[in-house]
Parts: sequence; C-alpha cells; structure tokens
Amino acid sequence: MGNVTTKFLKEKFIKFFKDKNHTQIDSASLVPDNDGSVLFTTAGMHPLVPYLLGKEHPQGKRLCDVQKCVRTNDIDSVGDASHLTFFEMLGSWSLGDYFKHEIVGYSYEFLTGKDYLNLPVDRLAVTVFAGDENSPKDEETYARWKELGIKEENIYYLDKEHNWWQLGEVGPCGPDSEMFWITDKAPCSKTCSPACDCGRFMEIWNDVFMGFVRKSEGGPIEPLKVKNIDTGMGVERTVCVLNGYKSVYEVDSLKPAIEILERLSAHEYGLNDEIDKAMRVIADHVRTSTMILGDEIATTPSNVGRGYVLRRLIRRSINFARRLNIDASKLLELVDFYIGYFKDTYTCLEKNEEFIKVEFEKEVKKFSNTIAQGLKEFEKVTGDMTNVKINGAVAFRLYDTFGFPLELTVELAGEKGLDVDIEEYNECYKAHQEKSRTSSAGMFKGGLAGTDYGYAKYHTATHLLLSALRKFFGDGVLQRGSNITLERMRFDFSFDRKMTPEEIQMVENEVNKNILAAIPVVCEEMSLDDARKSGAMGIFDNKYGDKVTVYTIGNVSKEICGGPHAQNTKDLGYFKIQKEESSSAGVRRIKAILTD
Ligand code: ALA
Repeated sequence: MGNVTTKFLKEKFIKFFKDKNHTQIDSASLVPDNDGSVLFTTAGMHPLVPYLLGKEHPQGKRLCDVQKCVRTNDIDSVGDASHLTFFEMLGSWSLGDYFKHEIVGYSYEFLTGKDYLNLPVDRLAVTVFAGDENSPKDEETYARWKELGIKEENIYYLDKEHNWWQLGEVGPCGPDSEMFWITDKAPCSKTCSPACDCGRFMEIWNDVFMGFVRKSEGGPIEPLKVKNIDTGMGVERTVCVLNGYKSVYEVDSLKPAIEILERLSAHEYGLNDEIDKAMRVIADHVRTSTMILGDEIATTPSNVGRGYVLRRLIRRSINFARRLNIDASKLLELVDFYIGYFKDTYTCLEKNEEFIKVEFEKEVKKFSNTIAQGLKEFEKVTGDMTNVKINGAVAFRLYDTFGFPLELTVELAGEKGLDVDIEEYNECYKAHQEKSRTSSAGMFKGGLAGTDYGYAKYHTATHLLLSALRKFFGDGVLQRGSNITLERMRFDFSFDRKMTPEEIQMVENEVNKNILAAIPVVCEEMSLDDARKSGAMGIFDNKYGDKVTVYTIGNVSKEICGGPHAQNTKDLGYFKIQKEESSSAGVRRIKAILTD
C-alpha cells in the first residue's frame, strides 16, 4: 500500500468496528489490576478476562480498542525485524453476541474492502484449526474463508501449537484463525506454510473463537457457557507489512527515534547489522521504559518484579548506547520524542511527564556511576582470559557491587568469546539472599528483610494517608479497603465526591511532611480494651482476638493493625498519589507509590 501510518490503521480499525455497532473502550493500564500472575498487560484481551468468562461488561457485548501492551519474554530477540517489548494492539470483541461466521466476514471485509485496507485477496493466506481432543477440525471456518474468496491453496489447517490461543496457563481459550500477508519471498520449500518462519508469510491478525476455559494449571479444557470472539492485530507489525517495510523500526512511531540515534551516534542506520541492532534495542527499550514510567499506575526502577523489568530495560539501553558512543543522558531526547508522540493517545504520559524524566534520569545516573567502575573491574578480571568460564563469584560481585545485571556480564563476556558460570552465580545469589535475611532479622521486632520491608513501607504509608485524609476531611473518613503490592498501594476510603487537584496535593504534602519528620513507628501489644481506651483506630470486633497490636506514629496515627510496618517514617522515601477515582457509591480510591 505504501505510506500507511499507525494513526491511519488505528482510525480505520476503530471506525470499521464502530460502524458494526461496537463501542470503543479505553486502553487499560499496563499494570494488570486484578491479576497477580503476570507483571504487565500482554494482550488486548487481558483486561477483559472477567468479561470473557461471563461477567457483564458495562459498555455492552460488542467492543473494540487500541490497547498498550508490554511483553518481555522475547527481550533477547529485540533488535531483529519484528520483536518489540512494547506494542499497541487493536482488538475487537463479541461477548456472547456473534460468533465465527460474522467475525470471519468482518475480517475479510476490513482486509480487502475498498474503504478499508483494500488488500488484494490473492496476497492473503489464512490458517484454521486442524482439531484435537477438545475441539474438532474447524471445517466451518475453512468453508467461510473459501466462500468469501480466499483460494483453497491459501487456506491451511494447522495444529494446536499454531492455532490454539490462550493467555497463560489458566483462563479463557479457544481455537483461532490467523491471517497472513504473502510477501514477495519465494516459498522456502514444498511444504512452506504460515507455520514456518522463513518470512514468506507475515501474520497480521488473529481471530480467536474463545469458547473454552481452563480453570486450573494442567487441568481439563471445558466449554464456556457463553462463547466469545477475541481478535488482535499488532499495530506496528501490520503497518510494517502494509508498507512493505523491512522492519518495524521504519514505522512512524519508531523511525524518528532511530533518526535521533543516527544524529547522536553519527552512524547511519542500515549499513551495519551490529549498529542497526544497537539502535533498534535502544529505540525499543527507551520506548517501553517511557510507557511503563508514564502509565496510570507508575512503576519505578527497582530489583524486584515490574521495577526490575524497568531497570533492566533502561540499563540495557544504556549498555547499547555505550556501544554507539552515545552518552546515556542523551537518551532523554528519545524519552521526549515518545512522550510527544503518544501523549494524545495515552493522556497519562503528559500528566506524568516530569515523573518519567526524573525517574529515567535518576536511573541513568545510578547506572552510569557504577558501570564505569564495573567495566574497569570486568577488564581487570577478564584481561587475559581465553576460552574459560568467568566464575560465578566474579559475576555475582559485578552484580552486587557494580549493579551489573547477570545478562550484561554474559553479554560483555560473549563479546570476548567467554562463558559465565551461571549455576555458580545462582548459588552465590541464593547464599547472599539467605545472609541478608538473617542479618536484618534483628532490625526490629518480627524483623523484615528485602521485599518484606517493601511491603512494610506501604503499610505505614497507608496509615499516614488515612490520617492525612481525616485531618482535611474530618473523622467521617474511614478505611474501606487496601491492597498493597511491592510497586504501589491502593486505598479505598469513605468520601462522597471527587477530590480536587489542590486537595490531592495537600494530602500528598501532608504525608511527605510526616515522612520527612522521621517519626519512629512504635509497635505495642495490648488488650482490645486498652487499645480502645488509648484511642487507637480499628474495627473493634472479635476478629482481632484478645490481644491486639497497635502501631503508633508519633501523634499522627494510632491504629490497630497486624502490620508489618516500617521502623521509621523516613524509610518510606517520597509519597506520590497517582490517581484518585471512584471505587463504588460513597467510596473513593487512591492509587499511590513510594519512590526513592
Ligand atoms: N488474544 C489474541 C492475540 O493476542 C487475539 O493474538
């Protein structure tokens, strides 16, 4: 087609489905709200899982959207022509409304229709499910594609490895039918098909016939009472295919970043595979980092969970920048570009602009300081090594002292033709964890280490937040719920209207004031009666048992609570409210984070 932009594709797709009575829903956060099993939203269907399992969706049975997604399982493939850790996915759904016949018709119409993508039908190939013990050979879909005009030679039956979709080990699933663009590449063999990755067939869309569910890991696949359609089209890959580009980095949401890198490095893109790979990795990783930092639920770089993924993305991009002689601080130019490019679609980027830049810069500084020393150390220990393994203890010291993630050591070692003893590294890592657990056990009563202390800080922040809310809005404000992860806190409280931006700021300042005041958190055990007399807040029913623990933070807060808590408010860092929204009638919800 030539010159198709991501904006064009997104608008066409949404308009097409709106014309078919679908309602456009907003992109959900990159941080899954109700799913602790995965770190990020990996597909458009992810936020819709409860509805695919039968819950009624408030916006109806026909939906469509553009969903931001992060997938880091293929991070090592990033740098090739098509893998990305962040991408946008176009999706459409029928929640118990229409099924196969209609969606295959819609897909054909969107791909070939004059008002839509107008693709020549002879260049399209499709796959259908070959059948297994759960679901029969999908002859219905085969016949439907044929009836619409796809040549039989371009319709392939494939097995469950290729044509069965499920998000993870459990959840809604079903057979699918995938659509491919047939490129100019000659068939790689007589049996060349969309199942091989020789590059002749490029996937552009996936229609999932979501009529099944797997309720437990390794458990049986059972039919769903209500059958759904889930479709997903990767924006960058499809725009790449439609334009006949060599890689996704020519797409308008990535190309300007490559151009910035050409200027910063004084290298031309497209002449040298190694340089191209470095530019692609940087463009991808900085984009993903920007989107994670600028998400509705923010994450900051850390050594666990989402924070670790973010740290790894930023640090990997710095490492590749070093190979191109680009000063890491210059990567902020890319951050700027991405904020500008995506802020109209994902408005939280503009709101979080300052936060994104500050956190990105902080991580750049942290890593730059240690990497310079670490590289010296690396050279010292590997100076005259040939054909030997770097021992695990050395790799661990590079990690522990110089902040080198293991994969960075492996990468640098690889450049010198050296291996790393990963098993030994893992042993050192485990031993270290064990040691830090024991040594900090005496930190305070019921001692906490590492991740546990991360939770404890959020528990304490919850008490400070409740007391700030009561200070400004009165004693009518009561806790209605709380949910804590290592990355953020969510706090529900009784209040009957939206808070103004000024009030949010005021509450945030009050919490930070108490953090800065470095108030010790005192834990005491007492009888329920004494707790009541002491004026502690809490629910005075039997559920606490006879003895209760009361946590007192100076004269700011006194609550009955099971803990655990930080030792001193100064350990909390900086408190930031990310979002204030309605939770249910008369109950508001605050999402907040603690940063360094
Ligand atoms: N959920 C399907 C996919 O991500 C549509 O490919």
